[in-house]
Amino acid sequence: MACLICGLFLIASALIALKLYIKLTAKRNNSYVCLVGKTAIVTGANTGLGYVTALDLAKRGARVILACRNKDRAGKAMRKIIAATANEDVVYKLVDFASLQSVRNFAKDINENEDRLDILVNNAGIGVQNEDFTSDGIQTILEVNHVSGFLLTHLLIDKLKKSAPSRIVIVSSLMAKYASLNLKTIDDLNTLAAANQFFGLYKNSKLCNLLFTIEMAKRLEGTGVTVNATHPGAAYTDIMNNAGETTRFIFNTIASLMYQTAEEGAQTQIYAAVANEVAQMNGEYFGNCARIEMYETAKDPELARKIWEKSEELAKLENNEKIPAMMIL
Ligand SMILES: NC(=O)c1ccc[n+]([C@@H]2O[C@H](COP(=O)([O-])OP(=O)(O)OC[C@H]3O[C@@H](n4cnc5c(N)ncnc54)[C@H](OP(=O)(O)O)[C@@H]3O)[C@@H](O)[C@H]2O)c1
Repeated sequence: MACLICGLFLIASALIALKLYIKLTAKRNNSYVCLVGKTAIVTGANTGLGYVTALDLAKRGARVILACRNKDRAGKAMRKIIAATANEDVVYKLVDFASLQSVRNFAKDINENEDRLDILVNNAGIGVQNEDFTSDGIQTILEVNHVSGFLLTHLLIDKLKKSAPSRIVIVSSLMAKYASLNLKTIDDLNTLAAANQFFGLYKNSKLCNLLFTIEMAKRLEGTGVTVNATHPGAAYTDIMNNAGETTRFIFNTIASLMYQTAEEGAQTQIYAAVANEVAQMNGEYFGNCARIEMYETAKDPELARKIWEKSEELAKLENNEKIPAMMIL
């Protein structure tokens, strides 16, 4: 009995120490940047990191467009942000990232009805999938976490260029470091080949986020539009809500005890979206409100180029919608 109590005490102490460490080392975005006159889109803004990001940008006076898939959840988030910030210029527009057509409809609405676009935060994401493939024939996690953001960014690029200096922020994950995707496994990108690994499909989709950032940065050089990726660390959000009951219970228990809050986790993407010192940075990766090294898995330019081409194909981009690689003369 004494041994059990002792063991429990040690585990509890270790958990408290780890939680304290996470709290004490977590940095906050301290940029006093005003965004009056600017327009921002945050995808997946009704909850979690996206909600906190949208709230922050609204506090700074931006017109904020919440890009969400559910009318009720989006409306609730919009009303909460307006009440908290007194910024009435917060709206929601519906988009389902599991449908390329829905992304196209959303982008058309933005291109036709918005004068400018200064900040695009590609944040929407899922940790697990209910359906293996979407009606577009794309593996669901890949489409929601990567292909739809890739397509949306392409469709909005002219608006971003017109509003330059402007920024794109792509929310990736620490899990990208452990992705199995490489030049040898690239043909598995739109299959379930990684499904048997621990979060294999998720890790690959998040590596795609980084490879997209790297290749996009090259193609945007000199346009006044920058693109950077971020990772939030581990934050207690709804990310595992689609998981089965047991997985969800285990995740939520651990996350509630150990992880950062959504408010803490969102600081790095807010930093990348607004901080003055980030303004000239392009193709970088940020964690804990500072620039960090890209993972080895993301360092192969050939892989970045190939994933780009594969993503163009999956997103069914027309030739005139493609962003050409820079010509080196
Ligand atoms: N939380 C973490 O520890 C962590 C760690 C690393 C990276 N990330 C990344 O951070 C980003 C935000 O995640 P989160 O933790 O804030 O999760 P979250 O609380 O579950 O929020 C995800 C958001 O994405 C939206 N979304 C999901 N599927 C969508 C679809 N088909 N179409 C449109 N929107 C959709 C969700 O909308 P609904 O509410 O309608 O589902 C929600 O607004 C994700 O890209 C995730 O990969 C999170």
